[in-house]
Amino acid sequence: MLPVVFIVLTLMRVLIARPSMDYFENRFNSAEEPKEVRSKAIKQLLEVFGMEDPPLTRGHKQPPQYMLDLYNTVADVDGVTKDPHLLEGNTVRSFFDKLHSEQVEYMFNLSTVGKNEKVLTAELHLFKLRPQSSVAFNRHHYCQVSVYQLLDGDKMNISQGKKLLSSRLIPVHSNGWEVFTITQAVRSWILDKSSNLGLLVTVRTLAGSQMDSKVLRFASGRHHHHSKQPMLVLFTDDGRRTASLETKTQGRYDEGSLPATLPMLPMAGAGRRSARSADYEDYTEGTSCQRHPLYVDFEEIGWSGWIVSPRGYNAYHCKGSCPFPLGQNMRPTNHATVQSIINALKLTKGIETPCCVPDKLYSINLLYFDDDENVVLKQYDDMVAGSCGCH
Ligand SMILES: *[C@@H]1O[C@H](CO)[C@@H](O)[C@H](O)[C@H]1NC(C)=O
Ligand SMILES: *[C@@H]1O[C@H](CO)[C@@H](O)[C@H](O)[C@H]1NC(C)=O
Repeated sequence: MLPVVFIVLTLMRVLIARPSMDYFENRFNSAEEPKEVRSKAIKQLLEVFGMEDPPLTRGHKQPPQYMLDLYNTVADVDGVTKDPHLLEGNTVRSFFDKLHSEQVEYMFNLSTVGKNEKVLTAELHLFKLRPQSSVAFNRHHYCQVSVYQLLDGDKMNISQGKKLLSSRLIPVHSNGWEVFTITQAVRSWILDKSSNLGLLVTVRTLAGSQMDSKVLRFASGRHHHHSKQPMLVLFTDDGRRTASLETKTQGRYDEGSLPATLPMLPMAGAGRRSARSADYEDYTEGTSCQRHPLYVDFEEIGWSGWIVSPRGYNAYHCKGSCPFPLGQNMRPTNHATVQSIINALKLTKGIETPCCVPDKLYSINLLYFDDDENVVLKQYDDMVAGSCGCH
């Protein structure tokens, strides 16, 4: 979303004591306390990240390796999305089993999933351990592992009380992660929380008899290292994904697609010439429209307690003049070219030169702990200025 850039720029000016404090003073002057401004700014930044309050920070556990690997697959070191097509939705949530049962039974608390979040895929990840050595010479080579959704037998009027979700043959002597897709069950739990009675996993021989539980074992949260805990992984989309600026500005000018309220540096627009400041003096005619660094440091903002990665990211910002004649390196729109000509010829009064703004935006990824200490990976669109142009 376009306002994001404005908010981040605004916030950085407020939060980080740099020479650009004049903006802060001009805009908020003495009427508001810096503290209030700070908390307002933080609140607004949280909204950009789709949150009302920052998640509670407790002594955090180690994030699941799966989530760390996923993050490193989709994001570069600064959190910028490597390939926007890798993830179908914009959110991946991981949950640990809450039951820690002696049986092969699992329960996941999905209360942190947003109401408007669409579940694209849900996967149960179980770590299969090697058979105990005493039973290593078992005559079975394969076993049938089935995952059932536990149902309220009375309510559903069914005797069995469970519904088969996924089933497959697994080599008895293998070890490592086994993944079962259980999307429909998770969708039904999100629609009706009270229907979530958990999952049951059964292991049978090919002949259909119960397998000795020493032969085929899955790691449990109770007895095994936390890196092997049973885990539910949801791939979801919260509907916040927006059409990127890049695609909007491609091709011909399409009425209404270029908003009149294109976010600019806070000084831009009508008051720009009169609101001269030290900051503005830095980039008069000598410097043309260019991309400059703008580091958003989550530690400085006070968010390092719940954000796993990245520690911060370079949002960049666009600064500089758009003087006549606009060369192709200024990446002008046709509209900007015409405006710059009108300005140069002074054909109409009060027409400024075009503005230097981001014309390509990239998304970033955040890996963080939510309120329930689940690790979440979320993509946020339009967070990094990829290039600047005169618009
Ligand atoms: C699920 O988690 C939420 C938030 O942590 C909690 O309020 C709720 O009681 C939990 N539900 C169950 C069934 O444990
Ligand atoms: C439940 O099942 C029994 C027989 O299986 C049937 O007689 C009864 O009408 C069913 N009840 C409902 C509410 O469907």
